[in-house]
Amino acid sequence: MARNIAQFINDLPKAELHLHIEGTLEPEMVFKLAERNRIHLPYPSVEAMRRGYNFENLQDFLKLYYQTTRVLRTERDFFDLTNAYLARARRENIRHCEIFFDPQAHTKRNVPFGAVVEGIAAALREAAKGDGPTSRLIMCFLRDLPESDAMKTLEEAFPWRSLITGVGLDSAEVDNPPSKHASVFARARALGFQTVAHAGEEGPPAYIWEALDMLKVQRIDHGVRAIEDSSLIARLVRQKIPLTVCPLSNVRLRVYKDMAHHPLRRLAEAGVLVTINSDDPAYFGGYVNANYYAVQKAFELREPDLATFARNSFAASWLSDDDKQARMNEVDSYLIARADD
Ligand code: HPA
Ligand code: ZN
Repeated sequence: MARNIAQFINDLPKAELHLHIEGTLEPEMVFKLAERNRIHLPYPSVEAMRRGYNFENLQDFLKLYYQTTRVLRTERDFFDLTNAYLARARRENIRHCEIFFDPQAHTKRNVPFGAVVEGIAAALREAAKGDGPTSRLIMCFLRDLPESDAMKTLEEAFPWRSLITGVGLDSAEVDNPPSKHASVFARARALGFQTVAHAGEEGPPAYIWEALDMLKVQRIDHGVRAIEDSSLIARLVRQKIPLTVCPLSNVRLRVYKDMAHHPLRRLAEAGVLVTINSDDPAYFGGYVNANYYAVQKAFELREPDLATFARNSFAASWLSDDDKQARMNEVDSYLIARADD
């Protein structure tokens, strides 16, 4: 156990299920794309930009996130962005990822839907054919826009539906309950899309109930505020509904004042299927392994505890049952091999 825990985390095979591809846009790439697309940036340097990454709450972050996203204009930009994440994922031993994208953030700037999805999907396809990771793509609706806008986006996506596995719901949560998007989710389900939704990040546990009952989602993104409602916890456990938790994000957006106050350990000990993810790693101080490391330190987790989170990440994924089992066996073999070292 004296072995380096950071190395253990790095080599642990894992899946990432809560990752906004636009949230992987590092300041270096912002500058590169701004130059390529001749877009003026309100920052003198990469360093100055990074220094501004100090957020009061979700809304405060989203303002910057949408502003920065403007440098993404062409299919090639989306391809390069996704490729950079996938290279990082390989270094972190992410074997499978389920990636969000926010089409409305781009189509409202007159970037064609096809440029966004084809750029992302081409990079995902190359990775799956090569050294991995495997992937699924999830189209998120921006919950602060009217539902009619989401409905239009769903129709717009139709020619590319074979590239998109599921739909999700993100952006400013408070005052935008899941019920607002019940019709578009019903339509998406009828078209055969899988479903997830951000709920219980800043919003109350009632939003998690709504996401389950009205949107009929299969996973809850974040969902950390479920800890405030014991009957909700009982339901998540009984129905094996996974939470895609993003610890560094929650601390950076001040949902919790520090990692010691984060409910991850309490949720896991209550029997909830908890996974660890990075959300918007370019903004929140780390990719998935940094998130594992931060919770390991805060809660003094041991190697078998960390392996459980990795196993959960495959169990909660949309891989086939056979692929899930194969990936979970890989986690078990890794743990045993390490114990024998
Ligand atoms: N929460 C909600 N919406 C988002 C986030 C997030 O952390 N990141 C990008 N869109
Ligand atoms: Zn998110």
